[in-house]
Amino acid sequence: MSGPADTRILPLGDKAIAEAARLVLAGQPVAVPTETVYGLAADATNAEAVARIYAAKGRPSFNPLIVHVPDLEAAEAIGRFDGEVRALAKTHWPGPLTLVVPLREGTGIARLVTAGLPTIALRIPAHPAMQALLKACRRPLAAPSANASGLISPTRASHVLASLGGRIPLIIDGGATQRGIESTIVAATGGPLRLLRRGPIEVSALEVKGAPAIEAPGQLASHYAPKKPLRLEATEAAADEYLIGYGPVRGDVTLSEAGDPVEAAARLFDLLHQADDATQQRIAIAPVPGDGIAAAIRDRLKRAAAPRP
Ligand code: TXA
Ligand code: MG
Repeated sequence: MSGPADTRILPLGDKAIAEAARLVLAGQPVAVPTETVYGLAADATNAEAVARIYAAKGRPSFNPLIVHVPDLEAAEAIGRFDGEVRALAKTHWPGPLTLVVPLREGTGIARLVTAGLPTIALRIPAHPAMQALLKACRRPLAAPSANASGLISPTRASHVLASLGGRIPLIIDGGATQRGIESTIVAATGGPLRLLRRGPIEVSALEVKGAPAIEAPGQLASHYAPKKPLRLEATEAAADEYLIGYGPVRGDVTLSEAGDPVEAAARLFDLLHQADDATQQRIAIAPVPGDGIAAAIRDRLKRAAAPRP
C-alpha cells in the first residue's frame, strides 16, 4: 500500500489542529501528542481510516485500539459504565487511564477498532493537543502509539518522524510528552476490575480489589473469533459454506473485489460477524496474499481458524 510521500510537521496551534481535523475527517490518520506518548489518531467511526492506522504501523496483527473521547458523557455514549468504574473514571479522567468496558450497540464505532470484540477501551486524554483535535473533529478517535510495529513508543515528534515518516501526512509537534509511558489499562467487563497493563497510574491508587491479575494484551479474551468453523485459502464454497471472497475469488460477499488490502481490513470483522449470522454452518474465506496489512489479515484468520479448547 502506498502512503503519503511527505510527512509534514506542524507546531501545536490552531493551524495544526485545523489541518489535522481536516485530514481526520477525510479518513487519514495523523500523529498527535497525548500526555503519555504520541498517538496515531483516526476517525473511530470510519473503518477504512482505522485500517490505514494498521497499514501505516505495519502491525502484524489487529489488536483492539483505544478510543479517545473528550468527556465522560461521550465515553458513556459508547461504553457501559457501572458505579465502580464510573468512580474510577471520575477520579482519573482526563488522564493516563484506559478503561475497557462493554460496548453499546449502534454507536457507529467501526468493528475493526475493537477487532470484533463486544468490549471497548476508552480514554479521556488530558493533553491539550488531543483534546483540541477531539473537539475540532467531533468524532471519537482511535489511536494506538504512533510508532511502527515492534518499535518503542514515541515521546517526541522526531521519534514519530523516524518511525512513520513518509507513511502518514501530518505530525502535530507538541514537544516531549510528559509521562512517556502508555496509559494504565483496567478492564471492567464483569466481575472484579482487572489490571490489563501497568502504566502511569499506580494500581494501589486504583483500589483494584483483590490481587489484580495481569492479562497480557493479546492473550486475554481479547480476540474475536467466529462461532462457526472457518476454512482458509478457499477458492470456492462447499455446499454448507458461506464464502467470503477477495479479489478474483467471488463469494457470497467480498472483502474487496479490487483486492485492496486496506478495504479488506476495514471489512474483515463486519463480514466475519455476517458469516456467523448466515444460514450456512461453515465459513470459507479466500486467500489474501501480500505483506503488511494483508499479513495482519491472514494472522487474524489463522487464529480464528485454529481449533479452540
Ligand atoms: O497511552 C496510551 O494508551 C496510548 C496513547 C496514544 O493514548 N495508546 C496506546 O494504544 O498505547 P495501543 O494501541 O498501543 O495499546 C492499546 C492496548 C492494547 O494492548 C490492546 O490489547 C488493549 O489496549 N485493548 C484495547 N481494547 C481492548 C479490549 N476491548 N479488551 C482488552 N484489551 C484491549
Ligand atoms: Mg503501542
